[in-house]
Amino acid sequence: MEHRTPTTPGPARATMSRRSMLGLSLATASAALLAACSSAPAAAARRIMPTDPAVQAAEQSRPSTGRTVQKALAAAPFTATLDGRAVSTWGYNGAINGPLLRGSVGDRLQVALHNGLKEGTTVHWHGLALANDQDGVQDLTQKAVAAGGDYAYGFRLSHPGTYWYHSHFELQRERALYGPLIVDDPAEAKDWDHEWVVLLDDWMDGVTGTPDDVLAELSKGMGGTMSGGMGGMMGGKYMSMGSTSDFLGGDAGDVRYPLHLFNGRTPSAPDTITARPGDRVRLRIINAAGDTAYRVGAPGTKLTLTHTDGYPVERRDVDAVVLGMGERIDALLTVPAGWTPLMALPEGKTGLALGRISTGSGKEPVPAALPSTLGGTVVDGGQLAAAAAVRLPAKAVTARHTVSLTGSMMAYDWGINGRRFSMESPFDGALEVRQGDRVQIDFVNRTTMWHPMHLHGHTFQVGGTGARKDTVIVRPGQTVSVLLDADNPGQWLYHCHNAYHAAQGMMGVLSYVSGG
Ligand code: C2O
Ligand code: CU
Repeated sequence: MEHRTPTTPGPARATMSRRSMLGLSLATASAALLAACSSAPAAAARRIMPTDPAVQAAEQSRPSTGRTVQKALAAAPFTATLDGRAVSTWGYNGAINGPLLRGSVGDRLQVALHNGLKEGTTVHWHGLALANDQDGVQDLTQKAVAAGGDYAYGFRLSHPGTYWYHSHFELQRERALYGPLIVDDPAEAKDWDHEWVVLLDDWMDGVTGTPDDVLAELSKGMGGTMSGGMGGMMGGKYMSMGSTSDFLGGDAGDVRYPLHLFNGRTPSAPDTITARPGDRVRLRIINAAGDTAYRVGAPGTKLTLTHTDGYPVERRDVDAVVLGMGERIDALLTVPAGWTPLMALPEGKTGLALGRISTGSGKEPVPAALPSTLGGTVVDGGQLAAAAAVRLPAKAVTARHTVSLTGSMMAYDWGINGRRFSMESPFDGALEVRQGDRVQIDFVNRTTMWHPMHLHGHTFQVGGTGARKDTVIVRPGQTVSVLLDADNPGQWLYHCHNAYHAAQGMMGVLSYVSGG
């Protein structure tokens, strides 16, 4: 495999590479799909492309109830109100959280997307093992839906759990183009009284600038941004310096955010549910942020962690749980009498996202009077163990790949194995697997920052008996090995779920091949 090193770092090059990586013009949109021929896999094998019959065969083998759930998503600019001010952003159906999409295992989810934006868009269904041609990666699994255009997504829901959907086009996810997606298991015993879906997001769009402004500044690198002397020591307009977290092993994030949202709301007007003392609440927490891990807890009340990324874990009682960008945690909370604040503290940063449970008595908590830290027993999803029922059976590894996470704040040149991903040659350095392989991927973090690594279309197992996940935190200097069964043919993106790291090229393709 050819390993190319990026040339001439700098603002112009960075802007161009972002364009070329994530938003090819329509004229060149099919180039990547054709690149299968120019970047041929070894030994005359061929790549299993999204339109391959093997992809449809996998879809047909998924459970089916014969029912279809129909929904519509309209992506468009709209004005939200945050902390009393009007904020222009882009979202689905005119709200900061897109609508809840929900079906049961075996149902077909049919989503009619209308693109009311002035640029292309796609929708990615984060965490779902679905048909590759529905995965929503422009220029890899589909062409972007043009401005003003429509697109029909449709696929079977194959596994229960808490998932989400978001635009996969450039930095659109950093606006409000995301929402929750839940797959129910009708056979599940419901040992809770209330369900609370919680979407967390770090927010700057329309307040201090746009996500594109952030990337433009970050891509100059720390060298460029700090050249202003002492003033630069604090970072730039958007770049944050000195956000550190012992939990995450150092540098916690690159970007400063004026607001942190809990279900699209700020702590001045928090989302509030009512319950009776002793009721159990099932939390379904989703971190939709671009550059912020959240530490979530209710001071004085334990959380019983039950699932991560849709899959059950050996239950753990904790004081707080940390979610990297893209991760989900399901937890049970027994409601105390009075008011219970559910806090999400941006790890290594200042600020608060807040929701509340009220039993109709006691004094309403004032956000300023809440504790500024959540301590005690604190874990992340990658530190949990898979429930026995979802543990991968023992099997010899037949394909093994090393994914070195590379780059630095200095040049802001995040990549994989020293290469910044480009959609113009998506299969350079691809991780090749064959259907039926037991695959091991070793994520080796050679940077001084943590990265939440996400794989499309699969749920891997962390380490030997770790949790089943699709997004896992990899700390600086750490190696996280994951196992998966190659049972979903196609071309699947994997990347850091830090929006700005991904935009700079910390991405690659898990590529199914056959023959040869
Ligand atoms: Cu949640 Cu490639 O994305
Ligand atoms: Cu990263």
